[in-house]
Amino acid sequence: MFAPDLLDALRNARRVVALTGAGASAESGIPTFREALTGLWARFDPSRLATPAAFLADPALVWGWYRSRRQRVRLAQPNAGHVALAALERRFADFTLITQNVDDLHERAGSRAPVHLHGNILAACCFDCRRPHALADETGPCDDEPVPPPRCGHCGGPVRPDVVWFGEALPAAALAQAFAAAAACDLLFSIGTSGVVYPAAELAPLAARHGATVVHIDPQETGLDDLADFALRGRAGELLPALLAAAWPEQISG
Ligand code: OAD
Repeated sequence: MFAPDLLDALRNARRVVALTGAGASAESGIPTFREALTGLWARFDPSRLATPAAFLADPALVWGWYRSRRQRVRLAQPNAGHVALAALERRFADFTLITQNVDDLHERAGSRAPVHLHGNILAACCFDCRRPHALADETGPCDDEPVPPPRCGHCGGPVRPDVVWFGEALPAAALAQAFAAAAACDLLFSIGTSGVVYPAAELAPLAARHGATVVHIDPQETGLDDLADFALRGRAGELLPALLAAAWPEQISG
């Protein structure tokens, strides 16, 4: 099922990077962004929900929408792809998991310290002073109903989700760690990302320019297929466990 060259590259790699996108969480029931019909940005307008200007224009709309998404993340469970990535990490002394996802499913599957490029949807902070804000217990339906955001206990500013919105800078430390790891790795997995959002989309080409083997996993054709040494067409939750089992048949992965 897998090319012998791919299995050799994986077994012989010393520095491994895995970059995940929304597709890695799709099998956990969290919608992706750009898939036709089901993607969040196919159903919702990001300019009304995922920019600082949108939040200032209608904080209740934005807070209510993110509140629903937080609920969905809390109800979701890691899938077999998350579990396989945690198992892969345990095989390599030098392994960096970089994710564009704002959920915590990698952590819950056992990954030690994923580098979150786009923030954490389960965290909140003040829009004005940026101090962290502890979220109260949230219950209720995932219905996207507008809900006014809480106010900051320090300055009274509106509380926002601690995620990166369009037009905002990525967290500098995470970005630096991701670029350093991609430039130094000898094998990079790109998993479930359409590869169109920068600067994350620069990581796979950077690794390729530095001579790394690039393995892309996605059920659909993406712009990364041409760049990848191995473009595996299928679901992360199926291909990743199968790849581990093929590379190390003597051990049960997981
Ligand atoms: P996209 O929605 O752009 O791409 C998701 C990719 O996952 C698509 O190519 C799907 O074909 C693929 N996919 C779907 N199911 C899969 C599965 N089971 N296994 C593997 N792949 C699967 O999502 P991202 O590339 O992650 O930004 O989007 C990047 C950024 O755009 C997000 O982080 C978000 C969004 O705006 C912020 O929140 C800042």
